[in-house]
Amino acid sequence: VDTKMERGRGVGETHVLVIPYPVQGHINPMLQFSKRLASKGLKVTLITTTPTNNLDDYLERFKLIVSSSLVELIGRYNGSEYPVRVLVYDSVMSWAQDIVERLSVDGAPFFTQSCAVSTIYYHVNQGAFKIPLEGPTVSIPSMPILGVNDLPSFINDTSSYPTLWSLVKTQFSNFEKVNWVFFNTFCELEDEVVKWLASKRPIKTIGPTIPSMYLDRRIDDDEDYGLSLFKPNADACITWLDTKDTVSVVYVSFGSLASLGEEQMEELAWGLKRSNSQFLWVVRELEKKKLPSNFVEETSEKGLVVSWCPQLEVLAHKAVGCFMTHCGWNSTLEALSLGVPMVAMPQWTDQTTNAKFIEDVWGVGVRVKVGENGIVKREEIKECIREVMEGERGNVMQRNAQRWKELAKEAVNEGGSSDNNIEEFVARLVCRLE
Ligand code: UDX
Repeated sequence: VDTKMERGRGVGETHVLVIPYPVQGHINPMLQFSKRLASKGLKVTLITTTPTNNLDDYLERFKLIVSSSLVELIGRYNGSEYPVRVLVYDSVMSWAQDIVERLSVDGAPFFTQSCAVSTIYYHVNQGAFKIPLEGPTVSIPSMPILGVNDLPSFINDTSSYPTLWSLVKTQFSNFEKVNWVFFNTFCELEDEVVKWLASKRPIKTIGPTIPSMYLDRRIDDDEDYGLSLFKPNADACITWLDTKDTVSVVYVSFGSLASLGEEQMEELAWGLKRSNSQFLWVVRELEKKKLPSNFVEETSEKGLVVSWCPQLEVLAHKAVGCFMTHCGWNSTLEALSLGVPMVAMPQWTDQTTNAKFIEDVWGVGVRVKVGENGIVKREEIKECIREVMEGERGNVMQRNAQRWKELAKEAVNEGGSSDNNIEEFVARLVCRLE
């Protein structure tokens, strides 16, 4: 993606490189952030590549290849009329800071997780509390009391994911050296924790990074809003939803990475079949073999199963009344910003903490109860959907979701908190140039 729009002297010459870690949940927000910067007049180049499944091997190679490519690319641009001023890099690539420093380019990490989750990791890194926890709860400044199951899953089980855990921890290794730290959130949503972290580092909340056409419900079919690693069944989903009543469908998706066990998949399938609502369920191609046999055929009157969908368009559709989600940060922000209450069924990493906030802080969802062997049973799934779609508590969640939707829109609109932060960043860059 290579964009440039003129907006007065100095702005169009200011060149920002953006590099996400190449998974869907990181590409989406960083691409949308790039587009916002471009709409303010900066020249923005986003660089990405295709990912692989074998993380351990990949991470080392990724670092090696990206490091040398960055040096070459920045050198090439510096010989052109668009020298690079800032590299906005995915927070999990903190080593990029060392590279740009040597090249006299500013670096700015971009966090694709919530400010609360990142702040928990920050405290762990500072040794503020022991992990695994010694008691059943922990008290962290600016946050509600968190139970063991509300903390990011890695914290209870660092040894099972050594590579990911060290990736998460190194996010802060260059924290002291940067002038900007971007967060895909908005300060009204995470008010206290944003203030707390901002007292330590130059935090800039710039989200939600959702194209404004979705926030304004001006959906234009021709607009290409993403850079998708998966192929959506866009027409099939929207045509199907168009035939459904308002607030009659539960949308179910576990994002681009999570993989449910076979037993859990089966419970979910029968829970959806038994629920009173119709469903649109994203089951990625590799996961399809876990569906009970004949499930798709047997439920074709009631549900649609697709391998990927245009999620923003689906969440913005009037037929959708509830989002059964794994609570990935993008999905959480998208549902909040489009006013859709949730059934929270977190799997791992930051999702457990997001689920806690969805239920207890923002009041926009219910969290499923996990039964024996870590399985959420079909009755529980059916009951949670009923509560959100039909229950009295569901009405409250619906109203809360509408309020967050308004606040999200205000934050990114001209003069809103996130828009002001982006303006300030642009102004400081241009100031330095002149
Ligand atoms: C992961 C983590 O779970 C998340 O918490 C982290 O902060 C970023 O990386 P992922 O598990 O894929 O991402 O979930 P999520 O953050 O929700 O991102 C998924 C993205 O894919 C969303 O932007 C969603 O709109 C999009 N999507 C998902 C589709 O466009 N179509 C689909 O069918 C499913």
